[in-house]
Amino acid sequence: MSNTLDASGAGSDTPNLDFAGTTPYEDYVQADVLTHLQHLRSDDPGEMVFLVTTQVMELWFTVIVHEWETAAKALREDRIPVAMDALKRSLRELEALNASWRPLAQLTPGQFNAYRSALGEGSGFQSAMYRRMEFLLGDKSASMLVPHRGAPRVHAELEKALHEPSLYDEVLRLLARRGFPVPAEVLDRDLSRRYEPSAEVEAVWTGLYASPDEHLDLHRLGEVLTDVAELVWRWRNDHLVATRRAMGAKTGTGGSAGVTWLEKRAQKNVFPELWTARSHV
Ligand code: HEM
Repeated sequence: MSNTLDASGAGSDTPNLDFAGTTPYEDYVQADVLTHLQHLRSDDPGEMVFLVTTQVMELWFTVIVHEWETAAKALREDRIPVAMDALKRSLRELEALNASWRPLAQLTPGQFNAYRSALGEGSGFQSAMYRRMEFLLGDKSASMLVPHRGAPRVHAELEKALHEPSLYDEVLRLLARRGFPVPAEVLDRDLSRRYEPSAEVEAVWTGLYASPDEHLDLHRLGEVLTDVAELVWRWRNDHLVATRRAMGAKTGTGGSAGVTWLEKRAQKNVFPELWTARSHV
């Protein structure tokens, strides 16, 4: 069907142009707020994409936290299809998050240096939303709250997340409800501490993977969690390589040893037994 335009370019089947206040789009999206949050700190033309990429990643972290919290709640209520839908959405979102590395992946030290000093002591290490992602994955650490002592809302949200069961804790509780021998010390663990791998949990996954047809829904859950873990590992490693290219072995703006510190963090896999069980199937 063709659009009939009048002299002003507006026709009966064209979009509305007449709004008393801000547009309904603006009221919903707040694009004006979003596109005026880019407060650059240097004159370097390359700083804009660095800041916006960081902001874009923060938005993806926010969406992914939402999906994993949805999934954790659904698992708690034994609503596996709802959890699977949220986890599958998060896979596409993690792919989009990881694709956002592209504009920064080949930064040279010279290009990074052009605005690096303007960042001061600012570092992604201080990202509270990234920390909430890690907490949901089982990578808990009370010391990660310390940088946020001066920001009450952020601190309160992180503290709540620290003490809540992670996505993986909910998975293990579900396995226990289904009759799998998940040990009591895993189920009753101190939730505010990092999840440590358990030989018994590894044996549970080994059994599940040895005969997937017997518990198809749980096997599929295991695979989608493995996909999540792989994409998280990829984000960490893409970050590591981008950092190595941009600043070699210099110390980070956040005060860490830089690449050697990130290397240690990027080595680990989340949901550890889903990886180690594969050797025994
Ligand atoms: C290519 C540019 C980048 C460089 C050179 C870089 C460098 C670093 C370094 C050296 C660290 C270790 C902590 C420190 O001492 O600062 C770090 C941590 C971190 N960065 Fe970046 N970064 C870059 C881009 C980004 C972007 C775009 C994000 C998105 C939010 C980000 C998020 C993080 C996070 C979440 C951590 C903490 C990782 C952890 O706790 O394991 N970084 N970064």
